[in-house]
Amino acid sequence: MIKRIAVLTSGGDAPGMNAAVRAVIRAGLYAGKEMFVIYDGYRGILEGKIKQVNKEFTQDIITRGGTILGSSRLPEFKDVEVQKKCVQILRDLDIDGLIGIGGDGTYRGLKDLSKLGFPVVGIPGSIDNDVSSTDYTIGFMTALNTICDCVDKIKDTSSSHQRCSVIEVMGRHCGDLAIFSSIAEAAELTISFDHPYDEEHIFKKLRKMKVQNKSHAIVIVSENLLDVHELGKKIEENTGFKTNVEILGHLQRGGAPCAFDRILASRMGACAVDSISEEGGKVVGIIDEDVVAMDIDEALERPRNKHENLLKLINMLQ
Ligand code: ADP
Ligand code: F6P
Repeated sequence: MIKRIAVLTSGGDAPGMNAAVRAVIRAGLYAGKEMFVIYDGYRGILEGKIKQVNKEFTQDIITRGGTILGSSRLPEFKDVEVQKKCVQILRDLDIDGLIGIGGDGTYRGLKDLSKLGFPVVGIPGSIDNDVSSTDYTIGFMTALNTICDCVDKIKDTSSSHQRCSVIEVMGRHCGDLAIFSSIAEAAELTISFDHPYDEEHIFKKLRKMKVQNKSHAIVIVSENLLDVHELGKKIEENTGFKTNVEILGHLQRGGAPCAFDRILASRMGACAVDSISEEGGKVVGIIDEDVVAMDIDEALERPRNKHENLLKLINMLQ
């Protein structure tokens, strides 16, 4: 029976991570466990940044953006010797379970700890929605709302000047922020991993809009696919639209979590505590409205949802 559980946040921070930390600690205490926090992700294990916490620690954190535990990226954690050292540090403190909140990379680290016999559970926290074992990651909905807020504002000014705006959104290997925000903002064009682009199509569409005297055009692009400044220049040269380029960047990761993320994080945190066991690593996720636990190996092998239905909708409505 697992008695002493630690929680950490790792990888890119996401709004709602604090709500998940709160839920893990409170659900653990409720179940009679002793609860610990680890600062700065996996690096904090190596550096011994670990402390026992009580309920007071979680006061007033549900509304806060970022992660109060801090996060880090630790490439050396892929080394099995480093992983063994981390397990030993946790065991020396009599900590017998670890809950990690993060994305795909964090899950791979947890899986390795689990292979060393250490009980773990992963909670999906990432603005990218890039974890295939859940319909939504904690932070995605807040980041989506932030993007919509920004694009609304950009539209106000671009329509006053009849401009085209090329807007780059985050999503390292996953186009969900681009796809969902394109629908919510009625973008004229979307370029993402699963919605590839064809320059001629883009120019043709924008030229037509210019001729029709449309007041503005919004092009939403996923990061890491192309140079948006180059695209902006080409649009100006080929369509007659004066073009602004906006890279929304890290502001997409900030801000207080929306209600959806706070509730999702609370449900997942409680489920994570409930699921931790010596019988192998687990992750939690929301699938068709239910928060469920599944095997970490199975989770990491699940194919990513490409949202074919939403891509069809984009093609129909653009
Ligand atoms: P995210 O969890 O948001 O995907 P990263 O990909 O940066 O973020 O991963 C977070 C951390 O997880 C990394 O800094 C590293 O310590 C650990 N990690 C990532 N990939 C692996 C892997 N293949 N094996 C073990 N640990 C990993
Ligand atoms: O994983 C979340 C994310 O925000 C990605 O969308 C982005 O590519 C990446 O993190 C940027 O991370 P950082 O600037 O912290 O290295």
